[in-house]
Parts: sequence; C-alpha cells; structure tokens
Amino acid sequence: MDAIYIVANWKSSKTTFEARQWLQEFQMSTDKEIVVCPSFTLLPIMKKTIQELKLPIKLGAQDISPFGEGAYTGEINGKQIKEFADYVIIGHSERRSHFQEDDAILEKKVQMAKSYNLEPIFCVQDGKTIIPQGVAIAAYEPIFAIGSGNPDTPQNANDVAKKIKDQTNITVLYGGSVTSVNVHQFTNESSISGVLVGGTSLDVKEFSQIIHHA
Ligand code: PGA
Repeated sequence: MDAIYIVANWKSSKTTFEARQWLQEFQMSTDKEIVVCPSFTLLPIMKKTIQELKLPIKLGAQDISPFGEGAYTGEINGKQIKEFADYVIIGHSERRSHFQEDDAILEKKVQMAKSYNLEPIFCVQDGKTIIPQGVAIAAYEPIFAIGSGNPDTPQNANDVAKKIKDQTNITVLYGGSVTSVNVHQFTNESSISGVLVGGTSLDVKEFSQIIHHA
C-alpha cells in the first residue's frame, strides 16, 4: 500500500520558541509520512531539533522562488530551501489570491523545486486546476473548506481526487478543515492518500491525534 501523507501547513504562525516547544511535545512513532511546513525562519532550528530528538518528521517550505540564486531581493531559492527541507507547497489558494500567483509562475516554481530535488505538494482548488508537469503529489483544497470548519464531503473529495488520478496518476491528498474527528473519513476513501492540515496542525496534541486516526 502507498504511504499515507499527513502534511502540516503552519502558514504564518509560530516563533522559534513555539516551534521548538511543539517538536518537544511531539511524541509518537509512526509509519506515516509526516511533513511539517513552517515559515522559512523556523526551518534551521526545526531541522536541528528534529535531528536531536530523532523525530519521524520531514520538513517542507510553504513557497519557493521562481528564480535561482541571484539578485532577487526577498526571495528564498530552491538551493537554500534544500539545505533544510525535502518538500515545498506550491499553488496554495492563499498564494494565488493574496500574491497574484498564476499558472505560469506556479509552473516555474514547480520546475525550480524539481531542479533542486524538492518534492512539490501542488494545491488544486478543483478538478479543473492545471497541474504542471513533474508534480507527483497534489492536494485538493476547495476554497470554501479552508479555515472554515466546513470540510468537503469525503465522497465529493474522493470524486475530485479520482478525476485527477484518472488524468495524471499522481498521489492526491485532501485539505480543508481536517480534524482528528473527520480525518479517517478522508483517508478511508480509495483515491485519497492523506491530508494537508492547516489550523488544527498548530496544536501538537490535536495533530498527533490526526496522525493516530488517519
Ligand atoms: P485548514 O487549512 O486546515 O485550516 O482548513 C488547510 C490549508 O489551507 O492548507
């Protein structure tokens, strides 16, 4: 059976102190693929702490520059990210809406991630979103379900995931108001291979319960 992915998207949250505390309280062994995606500023200390505590957690970034090294003020490039992380979230609806990221820029970001051996977790808002070449993991995240406490139905999420898989045969996750109570309804569906978790991943106890019940 394929791995079950549990991906935490911390968005713009947590200080280094809070991130370390979260890791110190994360006490579980699991055979699921756990990926935590914090702000860039937290990646170095989290990598160090994960190694020290030997935690079964991989790191991901929440964004990547569409450019390589060079004169791009404010950008974090793939080579810099690869020092700390294995994954990168690309195409989240918050990046599309607040930062005007379009299909062309997202394709460049995917290419950049691949060229530095980072695995893109590409967010799609519906079954029609264009998925760039090279993407192996997509996350179906309908906008109405994000941060709303109103998840999609497992049945509909599975239908969308199946549609994506029928076209591309990639791994599909579900994201949007996932909790420890509803997670299994999603991971139980045949075309859904895991979840992308926002708000409820900030609390280490709730996140551990999500992993446990997935
Ligand atoms: P949520 O966010 O779990 O808080 O709904 C999911 C996401 O935006 O990735």
